[in-house]
Amino acid sequence: MTTAIRIDGKAKAAEMSEKIAADTALLKAEHDLTPGLAVVIIGEDPASQIYVRNKKKRAESCGFYSVQHSLAEDTSQEEILRLIDELNNDASIHGILVQLPLPGHLDEQQITQSISPAKDVDGFHFVNIGKLTSGRTADAFVPCTPAGCMLMIEDHLGADLSGLSAVVVGRSNIVGKPMASLLLQANATVTVTHSRTKDLAGVVRRADIVVAAVGRANMIERDWVKPGAVVIDVGINRIESTVDGETKSRLTGDVDFESVSEVAKAITPVPGGVGPMTIVMLMSNTLRAAR
Ligand code: GUN
Repeated sequence: MTTAIRIDGKAKAAEMSEKIAADTALLKAEHDLTPGLAVVIIGEDPASQIYVRNKKKRAESCGFYSVQHSLAEDTSQEEILRLIDELNNDASIHGILVQLPLPGHLDEQQITQSISPAKDVDGFHFVNIGKLTSGRTADAFVPCTPAGCMLMIEDHLGADLSGLSAVVVGRSNIVGKPMASLLLQANATVTVTHSRTKDLAGVVRRADIVVAAVGRANMIERDWVKPGAVVIDVGINRIESTVDGETKSRLTGDVDFESVSEVAKAITPVPGGVGPMTIVMLMSNTLRAAR
């Protein structure tokens, strides 16, 4: 029985963060320029509150100017568009992020498309999506989660994935679709699977690279995974269990870490894998926007 390498996203993110902080100090010293990141959060979603807090903490540790706009659940579309317009025109702000998901009454697409493509550090604007899908990655803002996943894949397989088969589980705009574009650009042979895919386990079993982003706790088990595959787990699922009458909650991914570790070459843990890398890629995009 082999044991997979545990891909330490937290350590890699900390290392990258130090480099970003050093580059930021240089940018300040040489050009009197401080990268500015504005994060907008609407409503009280507890998971979003935690994510936004972590983004702000990381921005500050990188030496950025960081502002947070926390708006009430019932904020109108017009008010949000007005705020984004202000931020688009604010010279101290280089990156704008509106935390998703949004409350149901808001038009997500109109909001994400109202952010200037030059400040769209989430990579959700059609201009950035278009650049990514047409292979102009170098001048696109690439969505942070897939960008972070890609760096971890490269660490284990190199930048050229020629001849390798990659299976992405989940077709979201935030993860699945941009992930597929990045893998394709690195010459992998890419399959995007989703809830309507027939024989999902059989498809995943052919993959040298598995990226799981479905939001179903521990769905991918040992017998779904080809021996020697690199497995990236994007899932963040909260599981409640009652032990001795006490309800406890813990985070788990879309991959059954224990059993898949017995066959994979390398695997990301949850927490401590993709999550910290997503945040550091946001910092990397913001520094680039400032430059
Ligand atoms: N919600 C979950 N992931 C993300 C992300 O990458 N960006 C934003 N803005 N919201 C999210």
